[in-house]
Amino acid sequence: MAIPQHTIDQILDRTDIVELINQRVKLKKSGRTYSGCCPFHQEKTPSFHVYRDKAYYHCFGCQANGNAIKFLMEIDNRPFIDVIKDLAQHAGIELPKDNFSAKSATYKRQAVPAKATPAKVAKNTAQPSAQAINPNQPNNAQTNSQGNQQSHPQGEDQHSPQAFDSYPEDQYSDFQDSSFQDQAFDQFSAEGFFYPDDVHFGMPEAAQEASLYDLLENVASYYQQQLKHAPHAQNYFQNRGLSQETQDNWRLGYAPSDWQHLEHAFPQDIDGLKLIGLVRESDQGKQFDLLRDRVIFPIRDSKGRVVGFGGRALNDEIKPKYINSPDSEVFHKNQLLYGLYEGRKAKAEKWLMVEGYMDVIALHQSGIHGAVATLGTASNAEHLNMLFRQNHSLTLAFDGDNAGQKAAWRTLEIALPLLEDGRQLHFFILPDQHDPDSLIQAIGQEAFLEKLEQAPLLSDFLYAQLTQRFDITSPEGKGQVMGELRQLSQQLPNGSYKYLLSQSFKDRLGFGRRDHQASSNDLNLSFGGIDHSQLLLVLLLHFPKLYSEFETLRALLPEQSLIKHFLDTLDQIEEQLPQDVEACRMFVLGACSHLHPQLLPLLNKIQLSQLGMDHPEDIHQHAEDLHHRLQVDFLRKKLKQPASIKEIHNLKQQLNDAYKRLSSSEIRVAL
Ligand code: UTP
Ligand code: MN
Repeated sequence: MAIPQHTIDQILDRTDIVELINQRVKLKKSGRTYSGCCPFHQEKTPSFHVYRDKAYYHCFGCQANGNAIKFLMEIDNRPFIDVIKDLAQHAGIELPKDNFSAKSATYKRQAVPAKATPAKVAKNTAQPSAQAINPNQPNNAQTNSQGNQQSHPQGEDQHSPQAFDSYPEDQYSDFQDSSFQDQAFDQFSAEGFFYPDDVHFGMPEAAQEASLYDLLENVASYYQQQLKHAPHAQNYFQNRGLSQETQDNWRLGYAPSDWQHLEHAFPQDIDGLKLIGLVRESDQGKQFDLLRDRVIFPIRDSKGRVVGFGGRALNDEIKPKYINSPDSEVFHKNQLLYGLYEGRKAKAEKWLMVEGYMDVIALHQSGIHGAVATLGTASNAEHLNMLFRQNHSLTLAFDGDNAGQKAAWRTLEIALPLLEDGRQLHFFILPDQHDPDSLIQAIGQEAFLEKLEQAPLLSDFLYAQLTQRFDITSPEGKGQVMGELRQLSQQLPNGSYKYLLSQSFKDRLGFGRRDHQASSNDLNLSFGGIDHSQLLLVLLLHFPKLYSEFETLRALLPEQSLIKHFLDTLDQIEEQLPQDVEACRMFVLGACSHLHPQLLPLLNKIQLSQLGMDHPEDIHQHAEDLHHRLQVDFLRKKLKQPASIKEIHNLKQQLNDAYKRLSSSEIRVAL
């Protein structure tokens, strides 16, 4: 079974390589990459790195590298086809059943017709789909007029309606009725399309298989070229503030207004054009172009290949405002984001989901490269996951109107199941009457970025939404908020976030405030008695899964210390920890029963709400920060009793690094 490249790409796009490799190799997050001990060679210090955004692994020790497919093939010594079947199933992608469908990204390219004899010239030229031009150079249709003249010695106007009228009716009945005929032919003559008959040298004589990707590429070039001949379309882009560079980067174009421009430019490729939905057929079997007199936005997949087009009307009276080419073998709207390829190319780090093509382009032009949009469809889990693979933190922009609020809520519900620990979602609600394009034009890049930075986190957005709905001055109202939250939280994956979100709501609504105050007084009174190690113990007793973020600390810990015993125990049981947060906590308490006399008083002494986090989303940052602080603490302790001069040097170096990491942490543990 041959698997088409586009299916393989799709499978790789949908596979989270970190999640996959983590099942075999214990990976630790360090910055934006993950590292662990290489499974392909023996090593004690990790030199195996996994890059989620690049969907790639690399070992700096043995140079093993590749994508998810190669990883599974090599680690299990399995054939390609086995691996791809598994990955496809996991990604929910159906593989082609046989060779026929494996070739689905292709079409039959028509043969070049025999050279016209003088008697047939008129007929051939008036039935454009029988003619050929070189699709790799679509401009030839416009520029190479010489050959055309030569093949019509009588100087007959090949596009004139007279020539058309003289054809036998039965053969050309398609063109006999409706305004379609007039419009089409008026346009042909007006715009001077030429169909030279000398440009198909080297073309196949028989129908040949051709790639839809090549065709889409050629059509994109054709539309781009047409823009040069359409001053009103050029004006349109200029009026919308798009520079020439931007237009070139995004390969913006123009689809002429006549009904059969593509049929004429690509006469051998009608089958392909139909497959990608750019040429349609009327009930009477007439072929016509989907996009006419519209500016064109080519849509590229994550590899940069053109897979579809959006066409916008040149004035707002024309409905629909946008027409997108339909889904096809190579164009799957619900798995694509406009701007993702371009953003990745520009090495965008922060990602922002907006609504329209123009928003993406305008933001990109202002240096905000991580803006993406869906293709006229609502965003789905696949879209959000694609973005979470670029960065754990993602912002969604919504209009300030009612429809925008509804869309925000709908997206929030879709996003909940995807919010594993460590992922952050921000909601950027735009001022009324603005979309990102108009806003950035109105207030400029700097002010726009400032607003973007202030976009609330899901926890704040949700709190604001739910507390608007109910009267939280009454206990009943508070109960309703918590009830709604409970329902929504059920959608969250099991993990610390789920628990923390509910805790933070309780705190804000003032549940158990008396306890909280009492214990925070306690805390203040005994403040000097709490050190970072104690905080770590409490944090891990509540969220044992965070252990992996502190594993490297074990090498620095004093023997016989409580924290060392505790981390050693966690290390032994880490693999068996249950998914559910509560169950996990119980499991750990059970496993640490020998340490209860020291641990339980700490749990009483330090409340979770006093760990100093403003948002439940911050827990990983909080853990990282604490990790760096502990590194500093323990390194300093070690420096007081160094074993050798060499060790002093070594420890100082490490301490220096730890300080640097600490100062780059964004959030401070409130101490
Ligand atoms: P909007 O109607 O919000 O327009 O459509 P916009 O993006 O601000 O467009 P401009 O600025 O007027 O040019 C948002 C997105 O919804 C899809 C398109 O993908 C568009 O970019 N859309 C909109 C359609 O698919 N069809 C339509 O008729 C309108
Ligand atoms: Mn707009």
